[in-house]
Amino acid sequence: MKIVKRASIAGVCGYVPDYVLTNNELEQMVDTNDEWIVARTGIHERRILKGEGLGTSVMAIQAARGVLENTATDPTTIDFLICATVTPDLIIPATANIISHAIGATHAFSYDLQAACSGFLYALDAGAQYIASGRAKKVMVIGADKMSSIIDYTDRTTCIIFGDGAGAVLLTAQDADEGYGIVDTICKTDGAGQDLIYQKAGGSRWPVSHETVSAKEHYVYQDGQNVFKTAVSAMSQIVLDIMANNDLAVADVAYLVPHQANKRILQMVAERTNIPMEKVMLNLNKFGNTTAATIPLCLWDYEHKLKKGDNLILSSFGGGFTWGAMYMTWGYDGF
Ligand code: UT7
Repeated sequence: MKIVKRASIAGVCGYVPDYVLTNNELEQMVDTNDEWIVARTGIHERRILKGEGLGTSVMAIQAARGVLENTATDPTTIDFLICATVTPDLIIPATANIISHAIGATHAFSYDLQAACSGFLYALDAGAQYIASGRAKKVMVIGADKMSSIIDYTDRTTCIIFGDGAGAVLLTAQDADEGYGIVDTICKTDGAGQDLIYQKAGGSRWPVSHETVSAKEHYVYQDGQNVFKTAVSAMSQIVLDIMANNDLAVADVAYLVPHQANKRILQMVAERTNIPMEKVMLNLNKFGNTTAATIPLCLWDYEHKLKKGDNLILSSFGGGFTWGAMYMTWGYDGF
């Protein structure tokens, strides 16, 4: 009988830098205040990676080493390592290559994936497909971003939201009839949203120049209100779709694990999907929006509450536009 393989998360670890950027400190930098930020976003503080020459890989390596330790995994047994990020250390080589080298994943091939805030979900899907096809048995999936490297700390509409961090999971192959692991994924993209969140300069269309730097075009721009509305409707619909596709009722779902962009977005998604807020993982109050790292940082934070057999729905929305939802059954008791 043919045994179908399914990818299951065997361990998770997160890493956030020590420096805490509070709302009070932001009040000294831009025209804002703690009350506005908390009421409009739910964010109280975020972490910032300080230090010259330190890139996203510094955080990703810590998270990846943590997963190896938690799962007692020999790094040379990793077949594939994928790093979702919009803030790679360098343009060439991929940050994933730097991470593989640092953790001793000498038999892994590795690459970066850029899907903005949906990067981790897309990367998890890619890793799961390699396992399902038999190409890989162990895959490390990382979401990591040093958003502070592309944020304008004189722009109050973006600097209050974003933070730095990294999260990593190890995917291993399970027999599908054991009943654990990633069951179904929907990924969506709509390039019509390309002008609503973007970093204009630094790519091939507008390479770095004195002019682009003077015009502050290496920073993230977003049309917050427009993105907000689209995020609410797209995330709500895709969560409903994946539940319907898999005959899941709200009672069957232990947790919704959403990308952490704005607490009000998550409250609206919860309302539209009838998933109570107690089942919605939330940690943006302390980490803000860490782009590709939000979902694995949530899994890391809530790991101790998770039980073998819990059904999770992961969901994201971000620049591109990119969005998605994933249904998985958690494979171990948290500790
Ligand atoms: O992760 C990728 C996807 N990104 C998202 O999902 C982000 C989605 N968008 C958002 O989270 C929200 O749109 C923001 C948090 C960015 C902004 O919140 P908002 O409730 O949409 O505010 P707004 O842009 O409608 O601005 C309302 C008012 C404006 O003042 P006026 O014109 O009404 O006088 C802004 O100038 O708030 C003002 N404002 C601020 N005031 C104090 C904007 N930013 C700030 C600020 N502090 N930091």
